Amino acid sequence: MNRIYIHTLADYKEQSVTIAGWVHVARNQGKVAFFDFRDMTGMVQGVVFGKPEVLEIAKTLRPEWVVAVTGIVHERPENMKKEGAVNGDIELEITDITILNKAETPPFDITGSTADISEEVRLAERYIDLRSERMQNNMRMRGRVAQFVRTQLYEQGFTEIETPLFTKSTPEGARDYIVPARMSPGHFYALPQSPQQYKQLLMAGGIEKYFQLARCMRDEDLRGDRQPEFTQVDMEMSFVTEEDIMNLNEALLISVVTEFYPEKRIQQIPFPRMTYAEAMETYGNDRPDIREDKEDPNLLAFLWIVDFPFFEKTADSDDPQAQGEWTFTHNPFSLSKPEDVEKLVNKQDIGSIMAAQYDITLNGYEIGGGSIRAHDPVILRSILEILGHSAEKIESNFGHMLKALGSGCPPHGGIAWGFDRLMMILQNEPNIREVIAFPKTRGGRDLMMDAPSPIDHKQLDELGIVLRKQSE
Ligand code: AMO
Repeated sequence: MNRIYIHTLADYKEQSVTIAGWVHVARNQGKVAFFDFRDMTGMVQGVVFGKPEVLEIAKTLRPEWVVAVTGIVHERPENMKKEGAVNGDIELEITDITILNKAETPPFDITGSTADISEEVRLAERYIDLRSERMQNNMRMRGRVAQFVRTQLYEQGFTEIETPLFTKSTPEGARDYIVPARMSPGHFYALPQSPQQYKQLLMAGGIEKYFQLARCMRDEDLRGDRQPEFTQVDMEMSFVTEEDIMNLNEALLISVVTEFYPEKRIQQIPFPRMTYAEAMETYGNDRPDIREDKEDPNLLAFLWIVDFPFFEKTADSDDPQAQGEWTFTHNPFSLSKPEDVEKLVNKQDIGSIMAAQYDITLNGYEIGGGSIRAHDPVILRSILEILGHSAEKIESNFGHMLKALGSGCPPHGGIAWGFDRLMMILQNEPNIREVIAFPKTRGGRDLMMDAPSPIDHKQLDELGIVLRKQSE
């Protein structure tokens, strides 16, 4: 089909062209029929007038039918022009209509924003929701920012590397999703909560500058800024300091804003820094919203949180491996501040040890975090011992990391952005589901696919799994 994209129609004035897309709005006025047609690039008004055979077809068209429409592009009369609207000064005089597919009456109206429509309804037929202008824009901007970040990182010598999804538990503080391994009955893979261990192993592998737009899976209670699977802009670098990583990421975040959101103002550059202690004391949380004006949707208040304690006491840790009373505040692979390394090795004054760790927050959300890592196996072992792991546990769960660190592993550190959260804020959305094509509900369900769902007995048998009767 020699099809013209709708946003370029103004280049074809007085010419006959064919567009393809959806009937957005249909208005039948007897001898005249008006339409708004939509494709991924925009919208245009079409008119059928004085052509009985075309009018006949035109009258049957309903919203969301898929059509190819041929017509002549006319400039609208001056008094009919819509200032500022895309194609507001042109219309299509329709000469032919081909119906490519009919559509059931849509379950909700997508000519507006859809934000006020029940989410259950939107998620059950997400493909219809995705056609709305707001969702199209969210998806497109997400993709463009991802592409920009990739290009920027490549220009700085990074390589994007995919790390496995079938792996072993990495302690990040949440529960793992597990996958039964048919070929090893009674054994399970864990889906990664982050690529943390692999990216460190890549540093041991001499990659030096790694990044990945990585899918991460965490089984935790869901909120507006949490999904069971989400995307990180994950990176790791060798031979770097905290300052190096923070500077690189700050520059990258600023360039994303200037490139795609020129209407937004960053409250303070360089990004201010606040110690964890100060944040907790002053705001009672470690991701304070420091915006001068919280009513302004175009104000971005980035803030680094620094100087985290390495360990904290916990009474009921979520981490099934934690047996002691100390737990990590970020992850067990971090290094302390240089002046506290001795305390770490000697296991002294544990509560006072500070981590070489930083979080980046934006408008009251934690949008990223990372640390310099322990690259000396003696130090990592000491950390794991402080966390209460037995010698056997250390060997079985972290033996590979200790071995890699002892193989000639460079000093290294990294960070991961919560990409969904960043895009949510940049797109002025209230939750991350609005910037994810196919999110889960708060109950962790995919309403469209109806997942999770029971599997049949044959599959369970193959996996050697017997289900206990559900207790009431
Ligand atoms: P962390 O656990 O802090 O660090 O995760 C990094 C960022 O990921 C985002 N995030 C989430 N976004 C959506 N849904 C979730 N369930 C969710 N959980 C976390 C947050 C968070 O700041 N491996 C380390 C990074 C490192 O040290 O380099 C890690 O995963 O924005």
